[in-house]
Amino acid sequence: MEENDGQLSLELKMIGLEDLSEGDTLIEVVYSSVNYKDMLAVQKKGGVIRSYPMIPGIDLAGRVVSSSDSTLSPGQEVLVTGYGMGMSHTGGFAQYARVPHEWVVPLPDDLTLKDAMVLGTAGLTAGLSIAALEEVGLKPEQSPRILVTGASGGVGSIALAILAASGYERVTALIRKDYQKELVTGLGAQKMIRPEDVFLKENPLLLKPQYDFVLDTVGGDVVAHLILQIAYNGAISLCGNAAGLALSTNVLPFILRGVKALGVDSVQISHEKRCAIWKRFATEWQIVDRLHVQEISLAELPTTLQSIKEGCHLGRTIVKIG
Ligand SMILES: NC(=O)c1ccc[n+]([C@@H]2O[C@H](COP(=O)([O-])OP(=O)(O)OC[C@H]3O[C@@H](n4cnc5c(N)ncnc54)[C@H](OP(=O)(O)O)[C@@H]3O)[C@@H](O)[C@H]2O)c1
Repeated sequence: MEENDGQLSLELKMIGLEDLSEGDTLIEVVYSSVNYKDMLAVQKKGGVIRSYPMIPGIDLAGRVVSSSDSTLSPGQEVLVTGYGMGMSHTGGFAQYARVPHEWVVPLPDDLTLKDAMVLGTAGLTAGLSIAALEEVGLKPEQSPRILVTGASGGVGSIALAILAASGYERVTALIRKDYQKELVTGLGAQKMIRPEDVFLKENPLLLKPQYDFVLDTVGGDVVAHLILQIAYNGAISLCGNAAGLALSTNVLPFILRGVKALGVDSVQISHEKRCAIWKRFATEWQIVDRLHVQEISLAELPTTLQSIKEGCHLGRTIVKIG
């Protein structure tokens, strides 16, 4: 990404290793993945990239070339997501990346580099959202009513797959388009609703409880209306803003029903917590084969980023580098 005279351009270019951001670990990238944030990164005033030129790409999986950290050996398979990658630090849409070793997650046994990027930041975020809800009582034995918003997207579709693999049976998916039905039912959603089903004409302070737990990826008015429909002692996890940044609600769901709102961040989350989620994907959450994935080359990236912008992207897209 370059900026010239206020105009942004995204193009494939040959540059040198010396153009990569600082770090003590050099990685040969094998796969990257495309996330909502990557789409924002290539928009003017997208609020993601802080200075140009910049290599976008918030995710990568590849092999260590060299590292000053003795626990990382040449050839070792690793993944990196978040931190400043693709924002203020050159990112994953490149053949090589140089990062601080503290950012590097050794690839767990039973996950391939490709699996890691099928999941990517979207998977990490879905896993963190479910872990946050588990901490406040989500468990399959109680057969809770769960709603996943943005269910056709990366975070939402992976969340559906994890919930199905964990034995949850009363899962509703919030989608916006007919063609998304097949995807979400294939991932285990029993019911589907539309945003208009949660938007109510009047402006009540509380509504009949419909869900015990909500895993939200879209924010905005959708959340403002959903909070009023969460049952006693229920909770909502919030990770995204695709439907808007503002959140206008009232305190009654929190003070009368004990509803908990849980913020989820995948960017700065501790190394220990991110490793724990990746380990769950390698063991109890073996869902990669169930996900809707398309593989592209770096040259096809602009088309995929545009489809995310236009709201016609489905599931996950991974980028094969080289
Ligand atoms: N906190 C974190 O660390 C973190 C990490 C990853 C992602 N996120 C955020 O999570 C969100 C989802 O990311 P993603 O990678 O899953 O994106 P994605 O693959 O592009 O999916 C976005 C989903 O949101 C839906 N959506 C968009 N606008 C909507 C609206 N106005 N009302 C209802 N649904 C709407 C889309 O449905 P349509 O197909 O119908 O448009 C799609 O299902 C983004 O806001 C992203 O920034 C946050």
